[in-house]
This record gives sequence, C-alpha cells and structure tokens, in this order.
Amino acid sequence: MFERFGIMGVPMLTPEYDMYIGGKWVKCVSRETFLSVNPATEQKMGKFQHGETEDVRKAIDAAEKALPRWSDMPAPKRGLMLLKVAELLRKDKERLGRLVTMEMGKVLPEGLGDVQEAIDIFEYMAGEGRRLLGNTTTSELPDKFAMTIRTPVGVMGLITPWNFPIAIPSWKLSAALICGNTVVLKPSSDTPLCATELVKILERAGVPPGVVNLVTGPAKTVGQEIVKNKRISGLSFTGSRETGEWIMANIGVKKVGLELGGKNPIIVMDDADLPLALDGIIWGAFGTTGQRCTACSRVIVHKAVKDRFVKMLVERTKRLRLGNGLDRSTDVGPLVNEAALKKSQRYIWVGKDEGAKMLCGGEKPKGRGFFFQPTIFDDVSPGMHIAKEEIFGPVLSVIEIRSLDEAVEVANDTDYGLSSSMYTNDVRNAFVAMKKIEAGITYINSPTIGSEVHLPFGGVKKTGFTREAGIEGIEEFSHSKTLYVDYSGRLQKAQIDQ
Ligand code: UN1
Repeated sequence: MFERFGIMGVPMLTPEYDMYIGGKWVKCVSRETFLSVNPATEQKMGKFQHGETEDVRKAIDAAEKALPRWSDMPAPKRGLMLLKVAELLRKDKERLGRLVTMEMGKVLPEGLGDVQEAIDIFEYMAGEGRRLLGNTTTSELPDKFAMTIRTPVGVMGLITPWNFPIAIPSWKLSAALICGNTVVLKPSSDTPLCATELVKILERAGVPPGVVNLVTGPAKTVGQEIVKNKRISGLSFTGSRETGEWIMANIGVKKVGLELGGKNPIIVMDDADLPLALDGIIWGAFGTTGQRCTACSRVIVHKAVKDRFVKMLVERTKRLRLGNGLDRSTDVGPLVNEAALKKSQRYIWVGKDEGAKMLCGGEKPKGRGFFFQPTIFDDVSPGMHIAKEEIFGPVLSVIEIRSLDEAVEVANDTDYGLSSSMYTNDVRNAFVAMKKIEAGITYINSPTIGSEVHLPFGGVKKTGFTREAGIEGIEEFSHSKTLYVDYSGRLQKAQIDQ
C-alpha cells in the first residue's frame, strides 16, 4: 500500500518496524500492525507491530534468560555500556530531536531537549554503576557487622508515555539496567518510533540480547500482561491516573512505581516580580502544549496584583503562534492526537458551564493537525472541575487569593501532588510554600517544569509515591538487602531473643 509520506508528499511506502525480543527484530505473533501519526500533519510515521499477550510472554522468556549474566556483570561495566548509549544519543541528537518533534508534536527545541534529558540520565546512571550505595551501620552485639547492599528486582516491566518519548523510557531503562535488571518495555502507541530508535541505540551500544526487549501494542493486551504476569517482578509506570489506579488494583504482589500526573499550581504573590512570573507561567502552562505531568494548569494569584497580571497574561498568550514544531517560528505545537484534542475541547464546555470566564483561546484552528489555542479561564473557584482535573492540554485556570494561607490552601486543594511553584521576593512566603505545599517538587521563582536528572522526580497523594532519577531513583529499580556478619565464633542471640 502506498501512502503520502516524506518531503513534498512524495509517495513512499509507509515503513514497517519490528519489535525487539531476545536480541532480534521480530514480527508479532498476530502479524497485525498499527500506525503512528504525526499530530501536526496527520501523516503516517510508520507501521508498528500490534503485540499481544503471547509476544509479551516471549519477551519475558528472553529477559529471564538474560538476567543471570546481566545481573552478575559488575555494575561499573554495565555503566560503561550506559555511557556508550549517552555518546550515541549525543551523536544522533539532531535527528532524534526532529523525530520527537514529528512523532509527538513538540516544538524542535523541546524535541532536542527530550534527547538531552535522555543523554543526561544515561550519563548520570552510568556513574551510579560506581556507587549503588548501601549503608554500613552498627550492630547491637559485639563482633557483628551490619550493612545493606542493593540487589536487582529481576525482570521489570516499563510502561512509558508519549510526552517525553525518548526521555522517560531513558529514565526507566538507565536506572533499571544499572541496577542489574532485565526489562520488557512497552512504549505508548502514540510514539513507538521514538522508542524503537532508542532501543536501536541500546543495541548498538552493546547491551546484550534479552536484556532490553521492546513490545509495541495496546494497553489492553501488552500492558495488561506486563502488569499481571507473575514472572515480572517489578513495574515502573508513567501515565494516566485511571490506568495507575487499575494497575494498583490488579498488580498483585510486585514492586511498583507510579507517576500519574498533576494539577500543578503556580502561586503569584503580591510582592512577585510580575514580568518574571509571566515568563514562567507562559512557559510552564503552554510549553509542550501543556502536555507535561508537571505543566502549570492553575495560576493562584494575589488579589492585589491580579487584574494587572491577568491582563499581561492574556496579552502574551494571544501572541503565541501555533504551528508545526519543525517551523522555527512556532511557539506551541499540536496536541498528541484527536482524543487529546477532544479532551481539551470538552473542558472548554465544562469550564463555561460551571461559570468560569474564558478570556482567550478555546478554539481549534481550521486545517490539518490536532492544534488547539492556548486558553485562559478567569474567575475559577477551587471546587470547579477545570481546577481539579488534569486536562493535559493548553488550558489554564486563574484563581484569586487574598493571603499566603489561602494560597497554600488552594494549591493543596487537589488530589494530585507532583510539581508546584511560587513567585515571591519575600523569604517567609517562599519557605512557607516550600514546607506547606503538598507536592513532590516545589520551585521558587521558576516554573513547574524542567526537572534535572540528578534530583528525584515524583509526587505525593494521587500522583503516586515513587521517585525516579537522582539517587532516590535507584530505589524503584532495586531492593535493599540486609547483611549481618557475625565473627564472634559463637551463637549470639539478638537483643530481642535474650
Ligand atoms: C512528565 O511530564 O511526565 O519536569 C515528566 C519536567 C520533565 C518531567 C517530565 N522533565 O519538565
């Protein structure tokens, strides 16, 4: 079948990509495929294997087979392989950044940033190969030594989202691999091409067959099997709250890491540097078209500056240029797919219905692509759906407050707790925010997005409870094992048994 694909609509065969199992690129059992589509142009990026339960089982076989050798390999040696991955990513950054832009719809600098984040985490985790710290501590008995070491979890399932299609799989892969696990990776069906290219790089870096297995396909079969299969000992998932809740109810006894999004606030206090806050909110709310778990979706602004600030905000938002992310003049790319577009559109109706005032945006421009105008709602009260639910699009709610206490109370009036921010020049405000906001991350005078890989990333409340990246990120992908060595030469009963 011939499709329009590539430059100037030249007819080309839509390329077909295989899955990677046991070191081989293979077709799925059913021989069926699904398409990945560029959200800016609606052109087809490729056909991918429509994996099913049986394919996951094959991948688990391969991962189990590879586990003993991989986990026995000294961690610094595994680290060298990760360093090689970082080097190959760096060499290929331009091409991969364009690919991210095309498959997911970010603007090009963000596409390149996605690859940079992957480079950073592979480098960071390569270094962890020379650390993987445990603790040594005292014992309550003489001539007895006590310590902990980190051990692999085993075969791990990694289920990754589309919004950081190279970076988030890299967060999980780099940590899982340095800890000595083997993995089955199921990427989002919106960005299988980015995942495929990443796995090709791992293969080129010399990661042995079976250590990383890629199974593309739907959540209903591939995802479910990864969650439920008893031979998988640990799961790391980033995605929607609904799926996360399903996972928690179905996973059984398994190590599990979840990151389920946010409703991230930026508080603008009456003493804030308003132009600085404006830059931060425009970037935090509309960067990546609002499709970051850490995106700002609530501006909580002090009454004393609200009118002035909202005017500035609306004026800047109206100037944002929507377009194809490959075009250098574009500020905001499309949403990832039609469902995401419909979701943002639906929330416009919800917001209007519950009495919020739309100040700008709210429309899908004519023509191809899943574009949606950056939108601001004013007069939002904390109880409204648009103030509580994750929209994952360019829709921002403005909520007025009159005091620091009220600001913190409103910021915390959500089930989620991932990122948060306050703009203020008052040190008291800043420290109260840092201590009292219920979130995994609080920024001061900086937007809610843009985490660094050597610091832990994750949330509280319904966002989940695990941490990725940083030293803490090792915990999601390893067990702590406790070791006691008694060199007294006699039975020494522990204090509790004496
Ligand atoms: C996500 O959106 O799922 O904080 C995580 C940031 C990102 C985090 C991405 N690096 O901007």
